[in-house]
Amino acid sequence: MPKLSPDTVLHRAPSFIAEVDTSNEVKIHFESRILKMGHDALGLLDLFHQPRTVGQALTLLGPRMKGPRAAQEALATVVSLHQAGLLRNEPTEQFSNQPFPKGGYDAALVHIAMLEDPVRKAAFQQAVRETVREGDVVLDLGTGSGILAITAAQAGARKVYAVEPAGMVHLAQRIAERNGVADRIEFIRGWSPQLELPERADVLLTDIVGNEALDMQIWETVQDARRRLMKDSPRLVPGRLTSFATLARIPDSLLDKHRVTQDHLARWKEMFGIDFGPMAESESQRSIGFYERPETVQTWDFLSEPAELYQVDLQQDMTGPLQTRCTLAADQEGEANGIVVHFEAQLGPNTTLSTAPWLGCARSHWYTAAWALPEPVKVTAGQELSYSYRYFGDGTSHLEPVSGQ
Ligand SMILES: C[S@@+](CC[C@H](N)C(=O)[O-])C[C@H]1O[C@@H](n2cnc3c(N)ncnc32)[C@H](O)[C@@H]1O
Repeated sequence: MPKLSPDTVLHRAPSFIAEVDTSNEVKIHFESRILKMGHDALGLLDLFHQPRTVGQALTLLGPRMKGPRAAQEALATVVSLHQAGLLRNEPTEQFSNQPFPKGGYDAALVHIAMLEDPVRKAAFQQAVRETVREGDVVLDLGTGSGILAITAAQAGARKVYAVEPAGMVHLAQRIAERNGVADRIEFIRGWSPQLELPERADVLLTDIVGNEALDMQIWETVQDARRRLMKDSPRLVPGRLTSFATLARIPDSLLDKHRVTQDHLARWKEMFGIDFGPMAESESQRSIGFYERPETVQTWDFLSEPAELYQVDLQQDMTGPLQTRCTLAADQEGEANGIVVHFEAQLGPNTTLSTAPWLGCARSHWYTAAWALPEPVKVTAGQELSYSYRYFGDGTSHLEPVSGQ
């Protein structure tokens, strides 16, 4: 473990649970351990939410320190937090050596998969070239490898602000240097809701588009950026997301991975001598959402044409949960037990991207969203089935059959 000095830059681990008990003792639940820490641990973890040197953190903590031994105790807490892995040395311009998801967006595998996607990155890059004009100020929200920021600079942007919470931002800076555009890109480590800029931007670029278009909270995030960081009527990439539902027959072997069936219960009873019945009862009336690789989804039977589930114009504010209803007309006889959801992203004036699995997306970085319905339904050609969809405004959503059909 590297030694700490006042100049050592530390950054806190992205997630842990802190608990303060009645005697004011701090317990931190982290990576399957419970660590008891000094009462100053919470203040220090708060200060290191962004990378800082040990010296800076102790100076900032100064006014809150009481008594002659307080500074020494705070330093001891920093050492304990560092030894426990809760405070980490800043990665120096390299990929994480931790696998995903621990390595998060610092893992090479994530960027390899995105850059190898034959459609997604090329479409985004084309949209950036269609959208960015000479002299523009651009915000690249979630810059990752820096690909969109660098493309914007190459397209003539006067200034690009590229924000990214992962340490990957340091590598992106070097990539920009290697490509001769670093003088026009300012890389900022952090999350967009905490970002402040010296000027408002003309163009917002972001690929925080989830498998289910809204599940990385693009709508909420873009809304915040539009209000605080962008000029009026900014150009947005993407500007619009339209989601579609299609009636499907999901193979039983695959559904069994997501639904607790009577077969599971009988087998587990036999194997463990325990009746796990409540697991099946608790979810028997609900649709279950999951993601599957598009090349697998492509092989399922589709029993309807796609119908629009929702459309989100990212220029518009979200004014509460999004609630829609969608009617699907079966185009053949069969047994429907699932709904497949894909989306179209309007990236630039002339560039649209679809994640429809039947278009052949074997190397797509995106997974396809699917819902396993509570009950299979036998359908005949022309029969209509209605579904209600709700997006809760926090990355989560739900889809249910409308009752009584
Ligand atoms: C799917 S990756 C795309 C990376 C890169 N823009 C590209 O096109 O390859 C999304 C990135 O957005 C970052 N991100 C997500 N939410 C963010 C937010 N609110 N502020 C800043 N970055 C964010 C993630 O850390 C991740 O690196």
